[in-house]
Amino acid sequence: MLEALGSLAATLWAGLRLQTLLLGTFVFLFVVDFFNRQRPKNYPPGPPRLPLFGNFLQLDFQQPHLSVQPFVKKYGNLFSLSIGHFHSVIVTGLPLIKEVLTHPDQAILSRPVSAVRQRIFKKYGLVMSSGQEWKEQRRFALMTLRNFGLGKKSLEERIQEEAHHLVEKIQEEKGQPFNPHFKINNAVSNIICSVTFGERFEYDDARFQELLKLMDEVTCLEAGLGCELYNIFPSIMKFLPGPHQTFFRDWEKLKLFVSRVIENHKRDWNPDEPRDFIDAYLKEMAKYAGIDTSSFHEENLVCSTLDLFFAGTETTSTTLRWALLYMAMNPEIQEKVQAEIDRVIGQSQLPSTANRDHMPYTNAVIHEVQRMGNIIPLNVPREVTFDTTVAGYCLPKGTMVLTNLTALHRDPKEWATPDAFNPEHFLENGQFKKRESFLPFSIGKRVCLGEQLARAELFIFFTSFLQKFTFRPPANEKLSLKFRVGLTISPVSYCICAVPRV
Ligand code: HEM
Ligand SMILES: *[C@@H]1O[C@H](CO)[C@@H](O)[C@H](O)[C@H]1NC(C)=O
Repeated sequence: MLEALGSLAATLWAGLRLQTLLLGTFVFLFVVDFFNRQRPKNYPPGPPRLPLFGNFLQLDFQQPHLSVQPFVKKYGNLFSLSIGHFHSVIVTGLPLIKEVLTHPDQAILSRPVSAVRQRIFKKYGLVMSSGQEWKEQRRFALMTLRNFGLGKKSLEERIQEEAHHLVEKIQEEKGQPFNPHFKINNAVSNIICSVTFGERFEYDDARFQELLKLMDEVTCLEAGLGCELYNIFPSIMKFLPGPHQTFFRDWEKLKLFVSRVIENHKRDWNPDEPRDFIDAYLKEMAKYAGIDTSSFHEENLVCSTLDLFFAGTETTSTTLRWALLYMAMNPEIQEKVQAEIDRVIGQSQLPSTANRDHMPYTNAVIHEVQRMGNIIPLNVPREVTFDTTVAGYCLPKGTMVLTNLTALHRDPKEWATPDAFNPEHFLENGQFKKRESFLPFSIGKRVCLGEQLARAELFIFFTSFLQKFTFRPPANEKLSLKFRVGLTISPVSYCICAVPRV
């Protein structure tokens, strides 16, 4: 009896202690949050935020890029939103977006580093770095990509050869329904792999396919609830199981792969004959050996290489998967592209970027795929480097800046049929017409580092596909434009028929 009472008391006490602890924690966080909330005068307006969570709960996680429309109506083209600890502003409309991305005193060139990113990349590499370190890494990467593009085997030829391999692989499907996802990923990835690692991988290489699956998985998981919560409560989420743990494990595996390739390069490295990005980087590291202030060190090597590998794979292949879908769903447009290919290139030549100027229709279709695909809807976030003003509002140092590319790409004032696939958007009297409100690669000093490469890849792969195949939905099936939200917006997995043309 007494014993039972004793244990009851102990349980009560434990429960009470837990409650006090929780209460204390909340009060503490509340106070911290309150001070965190102080804003400068003239800060952009925005919806009121909840303590701790900010506006986190007001965002719709299935379609984060579509859910804040009412705020724009209410607060205008520059409004504030808090996501966890990040004070952010969302910018809408071409003039303001341009102003922000190409800010004359370069005040908005940094990257905010979320807690998940901090754990994987810290501030290293090309995508997450800022300041002088970013400048050095970016300049070197651009120069090296250019050098290997102009080397013995030009990048253009590599893309042509790879597109040819991929066409042969797709031919094996004999017009039957197949899922093109990882074949396209593999082919696209091989281009950046040949530049960074000096090798390409066969489409049935199980180990490489595993890496491609990991990249696909992290793309999806980073926008998921697990990672979002980790970004707000890293010190708690660190200890909890969930998809964010899978995310970290995946990145570790990707990093390990890159580190191993680097180790192998070191073994047979010849500074006089750099074979690829890694060799060139090792040479740069040797140049600065022993100088502490240099940004050319092992960690930046790993992260920059990983950035090129990842950014060079996911984006272009996602765009190509959208392209096939749009072709199968718009047979009359597909026919016109094929007619142009037959007229300008024919059936025996390999497509090359030199053909592009003579193929306005095909070029317009590719642009329209990028406009509708809109794979990076809020651009890659930027961060204010030092206090500055935009449109009369004060943006303090550290504010995260999101530019709404969706609003640009679907602006009813700019596009005749904003929500329908229509290559005429990029045509005028049969000639290709550039459009200002088209910024899938962003603009400014931090514009996509791979834009030229990506544009060459998109053109050569796409024309190679349509030169040899007609894409159709599987018999008695309807294809859909359903998408998956991740770091990129990608079509949900689909099967398609590639019917040989001759
Ligand atoms: C269709 C394909 C692609 C699209 C739509 C795309 C889009 C973008 C966008 C919107 C940004 C952010 C720019 C900014 O902050 O203003 C970016 C950055 C970047 N992209 Fe791409 N990209 C594509 C292909 C590639 C390829 C093939 C590479 C490989 C070399 C690449 C490498 C990078 C890198 C390294 C950055 C970070 C640049 C920096 O922070 O300075 N991208 N990309
Ligand atoms: C971006 O623009 C689209 C289209 O106007 C809109 O539906 C969406 O809510 C906007 N998203 C943000 C984050 O502003």
